[in-house]
Amino acid sequence: MVLTEEEKAILDGEEGRAAKKAMEILVALGEIYEAERLIRVRSVQIAGVSYDNLGDAGLSFLQEMAADGRARVPATLNPAGMDLVDWQDLGISEAFAEKQQQVVETFARMGVVTSCTCTPYFVGNEPGPGDTIAWSESSAVCYANSVLGARTNREGGPSALAAALTGKTAGYGFHLDEKRQPVVTVDVCAALGDITDYGALGKVVGDKLGNRVPSIRGLEQATTDELKSLCASIATYGGTAMFHAVGVSPEKVKEPGERMTVGSGEIEQAKKEMIDDEEADFVAVGCPHCSLEELRTIAGLLDGKRVSRETWIAVARQVKESAEGEGIIAKIRESGAKIAADTCFVVAPIRGRFNCMATNSAKAVFYGRAKNRFRTVFAPLEKLIEIATRP
Ligand code: F3S
Repeated sequence: MVLTEEEKAILDGEEGRAAKKAMEILVALGEIYEAERLIRVRSVQIAGVSYDNLGDAGLSFLQEMAADGRARVPATLNPAGMDLVDWQDLGISEAFAEKQQQVVETFARMGVVTSCTCTPYFVGNEPGPGDTIAWSESSAVCYANSVLGARTNREGGPSALAAALTGKTAGYGFHLDEKRQPVVTVDVCAALGDITDYGALGKVVGDKLGNRVPSIRGLEQATTDELKSLCASIATYGGTAMFHAVGVSPEKVKEPGERMTVGSGEIEQAKKEMIDDEEADFVAVGCPHCSLEELRTIAGLLDGKRVSRETWIAVARQVKESAEGEGIIAKIRESGAKIAADTCFVVAPIRGRFNCMATNSAKAVFYGRAKNRFRTVFAPLEKLIEIATRP
């Protein structure tokens, strides 16, 4: 890999230990993936924020980097393991909260914006077509590549932090035109109604194609929330960091000759696979984090009702603040449902607290089962509210 004089100086430690370490990470990755050079990034989104995932070893690494490391480009965080303000309301222990605060303060010392969300595009970190970025949350990576037309690989926490501290990333993978070309055309021959249909579609395509990039036809009418649901699901079940949605994605690409069709039978089968025959004791909405529009709908559905089981609505703090201005948050809280800002039910330390989680997110089903050992019920929002308020 060819480095500029400035990059070599950073690698030689002339701009501090953290920048040197960050450059070492980027160069190592670049060499593994045969990048020719480093490229500038416009923004960074860093995952690996929850203390539940980081532990003390992760916290120590961050503290070491924060000794003299400073972000050179706008950088935001993925959800933390708790609501940074109302953590007690979510049943988080004081010991965990203390460690989690240390993690977030450490990122803040490095100049990282501590908006902890997997929907950075709802809180001002919204790249445009062709922008080079280094994001790490898989659903946001897929959304940035596929819907916004920006360019990012699926970074790990350390490589995203390294990009923030240098303003660079290695130029390989989805930064290159040829790697962004779709290889299979997917024709969606099913009427897609709500975000659970899009989540199920992501599971069907992801299960079949793995990390191959599809060009999907039939998504022209999809809303932002439906697309974010699809992005989260396809990246979870298949591992791909992008797809093309014909009529939606800004990039022009050639249609691949290889084809597959997804019909309503496969969508229904995927939904069935996400449903266990259990009564939910936990209702979880907002994976990826809710949009303002979704909060309005939830407030309307909960109006005049009381929840009878633990119910979390996960959201970015800034979106929550916008909703507060409209009285939406007060309405949701009146029902007894909890607003989980800065966090979500996957990265929070809640394993063992519940048996069965009801959710409208295919991604949450996957991680609820894999990480938290929950049984799951996969259902549309209206049904979730019915479950939450069941006597
Ligand atoms: Fe976001 Fe948590 Fe889902 S980080 S995409 S709400 S698993």
